[in-house]
Amino acid sequence: QTVELELEAIEKGGYDHFMLKEIFEQPRSVADCLRGRVNADSGHLVLGGLRDYTEKLSKAKRIVIVACGTSWHAGLVAEYIFEELARINVEVEYASEFRYRNPIIKEGDFVIAISQSGETADTLAAIELAKSKGATILGVCNVVGASIPRASHAGAYTHAGPEIGVASTKAFTAQVTVLTQMAIAVASKKGTLHEDTFRRLLFELERIPSKIEKVLKSDEKIREIAEKFKDARNFIYLGRGYNFPVALEGALKLKEISYIHAEGYPAAEMKHGPIALIDAEMPVVFIATKDSSYEKVVSNIQEVKARKGIVIAIVTEGDKLIPTMADYTIEIPAMHEALIPLVSVIPLQLLSYYIAVMRGCNVDQPRNLAKSVTVE
Ligand code: G6P
Repeated sequence: QTVELELEAIEKGGYDHFMLKEIFEQPRSVADCLRGRVNADSGHLVLGGLRDYTEKLSKAKRIVIVACGTSWHAGLVAEYIFEELARINVEVEYASEFRYRNPIIKEGDFVIAISQSGETADTLAAIELAKSKGATILGVCNVVGASIPRASHAGAYTHAGPEIGVASTKAFTAQVTVLTQMAIAVASKKGTLHEDTFRRLLFELERIPSKIEKVLKSDEKIREIAEKFKDARNFIYLGRGYNFPVALEGALKLKEISYIHAEGYPAAEMKHGPIALIDAEMPVVFIATKDSSYEKVVSNIQEVKARKGIVIAIVTEGDKLIPTMADYTIEIPAMHEALIPLVSVIPLQLLSYYIAVMRGCNVDQPRNLAKSVTVE
């Protein structure tokens, strides 16, 4: 027993929990995911496992993404990036819905399956179904040699290393990193990306690990915010555009490990329902970075403040306006908007981690959840 405990302490590398260790590993795991694939100086971007498919993908009329849980959120981020950069129609499906719905799949369709474990039963069944209808399956998985990569025609690994905490953190950022690289490669092949933007994206991708590193330094500040909200009964997370999936992911992280009810919404949908919940007790987390939705999100923040909601805002460094309206702000560095989810999710992971720890929850093994769901 003691030996086991000591072994576990060593595996946690000095961190209290695997989840915290994995959050702090992200500068490295994202760098590992870029290594050998991107070189901004030479303008090189190649995902080895997809080399033969980039051209075909660039001609695809439609990409269907299937996944579950956090991986589904990574798929939503990919939808925005693929559509914006490569101008390919993307549909993101819950694998469990897709497989039982007699989905329309035509020869020539591409299906991207995203899965950390590579073993999720619904995702595996979804790709088997799509394959039987003639689709080409590309896997984006973390566990090498798992069932989903084996059942796929090709794919790219996320190289995030083993993820032990049940709530996914570094696997998510690695998935988004792979999918972003795929989208940029396809867009460049297709000619929908200006050479300058291509170069700029590669340059900025290489800088993501150090930007994550910087956000991790806000750790203490985030812990202080967590202290204030550890007894909250509900939370709302709002974001628009690229940050909408991040809002969903922030809410999922909180409910998974702290058991606080949390909902993620596209900020503009607030007025169609969630606004009714807002009062002086309701914490609302806005992902309000300087991007093309910024002004719109600012007015959403005003709507929440007018109803006395408490606003915690993730903002871009140097933002002068939102700190005058929000109750708490956490800064992240500026970057190309397509890359923001890779960094804006980090403070949300930390916020849910600290809240869960303060509530005495079993962070690494939350009740009722499994790391890998191999049954329906
Ligand atoms: C479970 C895990 C989640 C994960 C989801 C999909 O619910 O608890 O963290 O996002 O399965 O898993 P996958 O391995 O397919 O990414």
